[in-house]
Amino acid sequence: MVTAKLMGFLDEEIAKLKAEGRFVRLRVLEGPQEPVSVIDGKKVVNLTSNNYLDLANHPTLKAAAKAAIDKYGVGTAAVRTIIGTMDIHMALEKKLAEFKGAEAALVFQSGFTVNVACCQSLMTDESDLLVSDQLNHASIIDGGRLSKAVRKIYPHKDMKALKDILESPEARKARRKMIVTDGVFSMDGDLAPLPQIVELADKYGAFVMVDDAHASGVMGRNGRGTPDHFGLTSKVQIQIGTLSKAVGAIGGYVAGSKSLRDYLICTGRPFGFSSSHPPSVTATCIAALDLLLLEPQRIEKLWANARRFKEGLKKLGFDTGASETPITPVMVGETAKAQKFSARLFEEGVFALSICYPTVPKGKDRLRTIVSSGHTEKDLDFALEKFAKVGRELGII
Ligand SMILES: Cc1ncc(COP(=O)(O)O)c(C=O)c1O
Repeated sequence: MVTAKLMGFLDEEIAKLKAEGRFVRLRVLEGPQEPVSVIDGKKVVNLTSNNYLDLANHPTLKAAAKAAIDKYGVGTAAVRTIIGTMDIHMALEKKLAEFKGAEAALVFQSGFTVNVACCQSLMTDESDLLVSDQLNHASIIDGGRLSKAVRKIYPHKDMKALKDILESPEARKARRKMIVTDGVFSMDGDLAPLPQIVELADKYGAFVMVDDAHASGVMGRNGRGTPDHFGLTSKVQIQIGTLSKAVGAIGGYVAGSKSLRDYLICTGRPFGFSSSHPPSVTATCIAALDLLLLEPQRIEKLWANARRFKEGLKKLGFDTGASETPITPVMVGETAKAQKFSARLFEEGVFALSICYPTVPKGKDRLRTIVSSGHTEKDLDFALEKFAKVGRELGII
């Protein structure tokens, strides 16, 4: 068993992950992603998906996917730059550009790959400067690592620190400067201070990239995102979005100028070296965007649900951190307690995942909850009742 011996380190690494409480066990959905789902054989109120607008199992989207399979087949069998671009890919990009108030848009396989591609392709020289919020998503961190730029991280939303970086000697001699921020931060549900970021960017000659993975479909008019919410669309050069959260399917996109699109087609490595979306996915996304425009009441319901649930948690005495959006953390502190909280809630019929160190800073372990527009008041009240019961049992409230 030479192979087993060579790979023996895996068992040691896994033992370490288990000791640190970082071992991941996959939970399995038995059926569609729904506000109330069957997970690991148990029917639970699902407060853990990114299915903000309850579109993941929507009949109109499913019909669009099926029709696209009949018309175009199941796959493209090529990368976009060879012969993996179909007319529906182009149609989706046109729609996304219009939606985001941009000249052009380009779709990638995922939100992760579009972030990596933008950081890597736009920051190609050691004299470039990439400035990033400390709590930005892992894909921005990895994209920064693949870039050639000098990387500077500012403490979360600290505008004085951002200003100091933009005034530093590295910034003064930088060829290009890019400030990157999540629009909505995925673990805390707070908003980036875009007005101040854009003002500083203008003053110091930097361009701005906003990752609106959790804001597209959620913030702004019809879910156009945080630049639209703040009235700053024309000041954000690079708008990133995902098609895998509120839109309910899979994929990521960048919206910006036509030159940005042309450049990324030529240089975005995941774009050029990984095959394109199957037509069913693309058709699903087109149908979802149409629904966002036709049914703004979905977003209103999402926010009404978010307010009801957040206020309920606060009234019970839970600490919901700095959340301003449908992502509501329930702060716990210690890893073991957060994990126990999640496990007990599951037994009681509520799924709220614990998010622990190192995904969040040490001592800030929490349950992260995300409501959907599809939750009923009864679902949310049931969840609150269980949060109260288990929270008291564990001495959290
Ligand atoms: C802020 C943020 N950016 C990017 C991504 C990646 O998106 P996707 O799941 O489409 O790859 C995520 C998803 O986890 C996210 O939370």
